[in-house]
Formats: sequence, structure tokens, C-alpha cells
Amino acid sequence: MMVERDVLSRRAVLRSLTLFAVRPAGVLALAVAPAGVARAQAGGPCAPTRADLEGPFYLPGAPRRIAIAPPEEPGDRLIVRGRVLGPDCATPLAGAVLDVWQADSQGSYHGPTERYRLRGRLRTDADGGYELFTVKPGAYRIGDRFRPAHIHMIVTHRAYAPLTTQLYFKGDPYLAPNDACGAACKSDDPGRIISLHKEEKMGGEFWAGMFDVVLGQPGT
Ligand SMILES: [Fe+2]
Repeated sequence: MMVERDVLSRRAVLRSLTLFAVRPAGVLALAVAPAGVARAQAGGPCAPTRADLEGPFYLPGAPRRIAIAPPEEPGDRLIVRGRVLGPDCATPLAGAVLDVWQADSQGSYHGPTERYRLRGRLRTDADGGYELFTVKPGAYRIGDRFRPAHIHMIVTHRAYAPLTTQLYFKGDPYLAPNDACGAACKSDDPGRIISLHKEEKMGGEFWAGMFDVVLGQPGT
């Protein structure tokens, strides 16, 4: 059986990203402490990653790729990496798919007419690992308030029910209770607020953070 491959290989992505250095920190006051896994940051016991609102901007059919931001995408370069794990928080789930979408650095979403800009699907490797290359999303306004910067994802695996969630960034002033989304979103969940650190890779500088996803509900 033919195995689907990401459109861009990691090596090719790294080659292209070396052309771009990280700009000074933008809108967010992001922490620079070394990243740990999301669960460890929460300091709590093993628990499934919590769901969050899908929102109105999801589009099916995004291309398979680990770089959802091409080199010309404006913004601070960001790497999010982690693993997708079973309910014991230890068993790696190979072949899980993360369907990811986010706003650009100015807080706007884009769609198919822009080649699914800032959208993509990536698959975990044999160790359940993934690595996403993108830019830091911007906060966006709802009414007279703002949503904190976030990355949406739907995580699927054949053995578990799909998980729709969002990840957030430590130090964001719009996290709950200031989130314009109100009670419909859960941006105060410490298990989904990641710390970022500066990272040098092949001559370029990136923000980088870890986000492990724990699936907890068996599929049907
Ligand atoms: Fe959103």
C-alpha cells in the first residue's frame, strides 16, 4: 500500500527556512523558558487533552505538509513539535493526523483561493511525533475584545475519537478571562498553553514550543 507523504520533506523545509531569521517578538509577550511537554507544563496528572471550540474557519481538504507557512509568509517563524499519545500519556500513536489551521500574523484567516494558506495536515511518525513549521498567529478582534493567539487542530487516529482543540501561548494578555470568545473557548487550560523559546536551526532563529496531544476517547 502506498503511504501518503507530506508535500514538503523536513529537510526541504529546513533549507527554505534558513533564509528567514526570526524578527523581534511581536504582539505577544511570549515566555522564553525552555519548553516541556504540555502536560508537564500543567504540572498535573496524566489526562486527555481537552477539546476546544472548532470556530467558523475550519476548511476540509487542506494539503498534507509540515510547513503551513511558506518562506514568504510574514511573521515570526515558529516551530511546534510534540507527540500524539494514547490515554496513558505514554503510548505513541503513529499515523495520527493533525489537521491544523490558524490566522496569519495580523489575525486573518485564509482559504483555498490562497492555496490553503496557513492550513495543512501532517501525520505522526512511528514515535507518534510531529513537527509543524509556521509563523506565530496574531490575535484577532471580536467586537471590542480580542481572541488570544492560537492554533486550531483536529487530531484523528483510527483507534480514538477525533479531538478538536486549540493551543495557546504563555504570556498572552488575551487568555481567559480576557478572551473575547468567553466561556465558549477554554484558553485558561494550562495543558494547552505552551511556552516558547528561541532556537537556532541551520543559521536561522525560530520560536519553538512543545505540544503533546493525549487522545482519551476510544473510537467507534
Ligand atoms: Fe481561531
